[in-house]
Amino acid sequence: MTDRFTLTRRLAHDHLARTLRADVTAGLTGTPKTLPPKWFYDARGSALFDEITRLPEYYLTRAEREILTAHCAEIAALSGARTLAELGSGSSEKTRLLLDALAPALHTYAPLDVSPSALREAGQALVRDYPGLTVAATVADFETSLELPDTPGPHLLAFLGSTVGNLDAAQRAAFFTSVRGALGERDALLLGADLVKDTPTLHRAYDDERGVTAEFNKNVLLVLNRELDADFDPGAFTHRAVWNAAEERVEMHLRSAAAQQVKIPALDLLVAFEAGEDLRTEISVKFRPGALIGELAAAGLTVHRWWTDPGERFALLLAFPG
Ligand code: SAH
Ligand code: AVI
Repeated sequence: MTDRFTLTRRLAHDHLARTLRADVTAGLTGTPKTLPPKWFYDARGSALFDEITRLPEYYLTRAEREILTAHCAEIAALSGARTLAELGSGSSEKTRLLLDALAPALHTYAPLDVSPSALREAGQALVRDYPGLTVAATVADFETSLELPDTPGPHLLAFLGSTVGNLDAAQRAAFFTSVRGALGERDALLLGADLVKDTPTLHRAYDDERGVTAEFNKNVLLVLNRELDADFDPGAFTHRAVWNAAEERVEMHLRSAAAQQVKIPALDLLVAFEAGEDLRTEISVKFRPGALIGELAAAGLTVHRWWTDPGERFALLLAFPG
């Protein structure tokens, strides 16, 4: 479209296919059965997630936007960033608040996501709407490939939407350590995190009335059917949102309505489900600010400022190395 938008695949062409095979083999032969949430996000899954962000029940996006609206000028001043990098950038909608606040010093916006369709759509819209901006997008997995672009610093690395909550404690520790390794002395991390709150609010956010979240959840089965020639019948599974109080996280499950066997020819695998057996497709950890600040500190990242929305539903943290 324009040379101000580039899309680079940092992964070998078959990397995602190989990882999908390994994840599905491990996840569907283990007990309980699980799948990593990154496989939701083909073009349909990315579009369904965007629809979720507009649902009345899904308060996360609105709460984080409230914080960004109130504090983006302060974030821009504190970071002094000339490059805004973003992990799991999706539609980059809320990011526009940061782009506006960081202009005119901003040189490059560098979004990174596993979803090429989301990167393409967002990137093309951004170069259209921001005439001076260079958008250098990367298709990569932030758990295995996290390098900042070689563009003018300081870099502000944004990780919004509470996608950090889709990682368990061990994955978060590894992730924060690799973020710390990627940041230079004057760079910063901007982290969005959803907070612990009453169970009915959480339950509604992950089991909306219109059933969009149920469609999003079942989309992973369609991804496996397409990519691995599997024969999942999405109608034979029920969407469930479960609050795991011990771990302080919402979990999305797909419950097998009846005993059934699913064939996955690409893996030479036959997966047996008992009636009522759950497949866990996502964890969405809800945080307490003090504990999260401690996790960041353990990885060598010091929280300089943090903010919440007036309803104290969501937090945004700005951390520097050291
Ligand atoms: N940041 C946006 C989108 C959040 S949805 C927002 O706040 O609304 C989560 C995004 O992270 C999706 O676009 C998904 O494709 C991406 N994602 C999930 N796991 C990923 C991974 N391991 N590596 C890179 N991107 C990932
Ligand atoms: C992207 N991630 C932070 C979302 C979440 O809330 O965990 C994905 C999602 N799952 C169900 N609804 C939205």
